[in-house]
Amino acid sequence: MSYHETYRRSVDDPEGFWREQASKLHWFREPETILDKDRKGFYRWFTGGQLNVCWLALDYHVDNGRADQTAIIYDSPVTETQQRFTYRELRDQVARFAGALRAIGVERGDRVVIYMPMVPEAVIAMLACARLGAVHSVVFGGFQPHELAVRIDDAKPKALVTASCGIEFTKVIPYKPMVDEALRRSEHPPRKTVVLQRPQAKAEMDPQRDLDWTTLMQGAQPADAVAVDATDPLYILYTSGTTGKPKGVVRDNGGYAVALNFSMRAVYNLEPGDVFWTASDVGWVVGHSYIVYAPLIYGCTSVVYEGKPVRTPDAGAFWRVMSEHRVKTFFTAPTAFRAVKKEDPDAKLMAGYDLSSLKALYLAGERLDPPTYEWLKKITGQRPVIDHWWQTETGWPIASNPMGLEPQPEKSGSATFAVPGYQVEVLDPKGNPLPAGKQGNIAIRLPLPPGCLPTLWNDDERFRTSYLEKFPGYYDTSDGGYVDEDGYLYIMGRMDDVINVAGHRLSTGEMEELIAAHPAVAECVVVGLEDELKGEMPMGFVVLKDGADISHEDLERDLVQTVRTHIGAFACLQKVAMVQKLPKTRSGKILRKSIRQLAVDEDVPVPSTIDDPASLEEIRSALERAHVGRFR
Ligand code: COA
Ligand code: AMP
Repeated sequence: MSYHETYRRSVDDPEGFWREQASKLHWFREPETILDKDRKGFYRWFTGGQLNVCWLALDYHVDNGRADQTAIIYDSPVTETQQRFTYRELRDQVARFAGALRAIGVERGDRVVIYMPMVPEAVIAMLACARLGAVHSVVFGGFQPHELAVRIDDAKPKALVTASCGIEFTKVIPYKPMVDEALRRSEHPPRKTVVLQRPQAKAEMDPQRDLDWTTLMQGAQPADAVAVDATDPLYILYTSGTTGKPKGVVRDNGGYAVALNFSMRAVYNLEPGDVFWTASDVGWVVGHSYIVYAPLIYGCTSVVYEGKPVRTPDAGAFWRVMSEHRVKTFFTAPTAFRAVKKEDPDAKLMAGYDLSSLKALYLAGERLDPPTYEWLKKITGQRPVIDHWWQTETGWPIASNPMGLEPQPEKSGSATFAVPGYQVEVLDPKGNPLPAGKQGNIAIRLPLPPGCLPTLWNDDERFRTSYLEKFPGYYDTSDGGYVDEDGYLYIMGRMDDVINVAGHRLSTGEMEELIAAHPAVAECVVVGLEDELKGEMPMGFVVLKDGADISHEDLERDLVQTVRTHIGAFACLQKVAMVQKLPKTRSGKILRKSIRQLAVDEDVPVPSTIDDPASLEEIRSALERAHVGRFR
C-alpha cells in the first residue's frame, strides 16, 4: 500500500488501522476497545488489553527462534570494552534483576528511578521494571543533584538504580556522591539504592541503604513477566517545560508497543534481525524508544554505545562502529554530525571502514540544517539522509520520510510528511489553518496516535493547560513551521521558552529562575542564540539591583557556576551580559525574538510596541562585547 493510502486509512479509520497494527503483537488479553476516553476525558488506546512490554521485547523472541541472536551490542570506546548479549542472555539477566528488585519490595505500579551512564545494566534495569509492571523514570546522567532530587520527589520511587560513575571522553564522573546529595535533598528518598560498581571509580556504600548490583544479582530469583494493562504506565520521562518544574511525560504500555513496532518498518524500513544503532543516551526519549524498546520488540540487534562522535578516540568513531557491527540504520542528532564535520570536514577518517551494510541515516532532536544535510549526502555517497521530527511527549516520530512504506524525494530542511496516525496542521494564533508557505503554530488534531503521552505524571491539569487548551481539539506541539506547496513539513523551532542545546532540551525559564535568585540580580532573561555546533546556546541578560556592587566577571562566573551545579554542565550557559534595561513591549513582555534576531541580523526592525528603543541598542552592544553570533 502506498504511503498516501496508508496515511488516509490511519486518519479516516484510526480504530481499524491500529487494531490491525495491534494484532501484530502478542497480547495476554486482547483489548476490549481500541480507542476510548478515560474518566478524565483523555483519549486512551487499547483499554482492557493486557500485555508485558519486557516479555514482548525478550521472552517472545527467545521462544520464537531468536534466542541466540544478539539483542544488544555494548560498544564502549571510553572503557575499551565490547560485550554482546543474546536475547536469551538478556532475558535471563533481566529476569534476575527483576527478581532482585522484587526482593527489595518493588511491585507493579511502584516507581524506580534509574540514574546511569550508557551501560547494558541501564537497559537491564529498564526492562526489569517493565517486567514487573513497575514504572521506571530514567534521569539523564548529566543532571546534577538538584535536578535528580526534583525528579525523585515527583516520582516518589521505591528504589533507585545507579552506577558508581560515568565517563565523559576521558573524564571519570563519580555518580554516587551526586546520588547521595540528591537523596539528602529529597523529601521522598527511596529506601533502597542499587549501585553498579564500575572499576573506574568505586562508590562508597551506605550499608543501611545501598546494595551492590553484583551481590544482589547473585542471590536473586528470576521473576516472570507480569501481565499489565495496556493503559498502565510503563515509564515517566521528565522533560523541560517553560518553568523550573520539569514535566513528567507518562508513557503507557500497549499504545507504545504497538506504535514502536509499526514505526520500525514504516519509518525506519527495518526487518527483524537487522542491526539498528541509535547514538543517543538512555536518559532521553530517543534512547528509551530506539535504543531499548523498539529494536527489541521488533527483534533487531541494538547497539548501546558509550562514547562520543569525536575524541573517543577520533571523528571516525561513528564509521568504526557502523562497519564493525554491520549497522543497517543509524540514528543520531545533527549536532553530533556537526561535531564530526568540524573535526574531519572531508570525512577522511571514513576511509578504510566497510560501510556497505549502511542503508540510511536518521536525524532528530533538532532541525537538520541544510549544510549538514548536504555534507552527509556527499560523504555517504548519496545514501538516504532522513530528518524526522518528534518530541519526548510523542515517544516516536511525528513526521518523517516514510521509508518503509514509500520513500519520498528528499527535500533539504524538511521532515517530509506526517507519519500515519498524526494529523499535523499549521495554525494561526487563533487556531485557523494556514495555507501552504505560511509559517505558524504546528498542532496535531486529536486523538494523538498510540504511543503518545496520555497525561503528565500526577498533573492532569498541567497536561490540559500545556497542550490542549490553546487550540481546542488539538495537541499544541509548541513548535513552529510551515508546509510547502508539495505538502512537505518544515519545523523551524520552538515557539515557547524551550531551547535545544546539542540535542538536549532545556528550559530558559528554569535558567532565569536560577539567575533571578542571585542577590545582585533585579531582572533577567535567557535566550537561545544560534550556534554553529550546538544548534543553540543560552545567553543571559541581567539588570542589577540598584546599589549592587559586583563586577561583570564575578557575576558571570557566579551565574555560570549556578547553572552548572543546579542543572548540569550540558546546559552550557557560558555568557551573561549586564544591561541597564531589558527590551520590553509597553505591556511589559520581554522581546526575546528581537534579542535572538540581533545576534544574527544586522537589520532588525524595532518593534512598534517597544517601550524604550535604546534598550535594543544596548543588547546589540552587549552581544558585540560577548563576541557571540555575528559578532564572533
Ligand atoms: N554526564 C556528565 N556530564 C555531561 C554529560 C553526562 N552524561 N553529558 C555532557 N556532560 C557535560 C560535558 O562533560 C561538558 O562538561 P564541561 O563543560 O565541564 O566540559 C558539558 O556537559 C557540555 O557537554 P556537551 O554539550 O555534550 O559538549 P561537548 O563539547 O562535550 O560535546 C558533542 C559536543 C556534540 C560531541 C555532544 O554534545 C554530543 O555528542 N551531542 C549529541 C547529543 C545527543 O545525542 N542528544 C540526544 C538527542 S537525540
Ligand atoms: P525532545 O523532547 O527533547 O525530543 O525535544 C523535542 C523538540 O526538539 C521538538 O519540540 C523540536 O523543537 C525539536 N526537534 C526534534 N526533532 C526535530 C526535527 N527533526 N526538526 C526540528 N526540530 C526538531
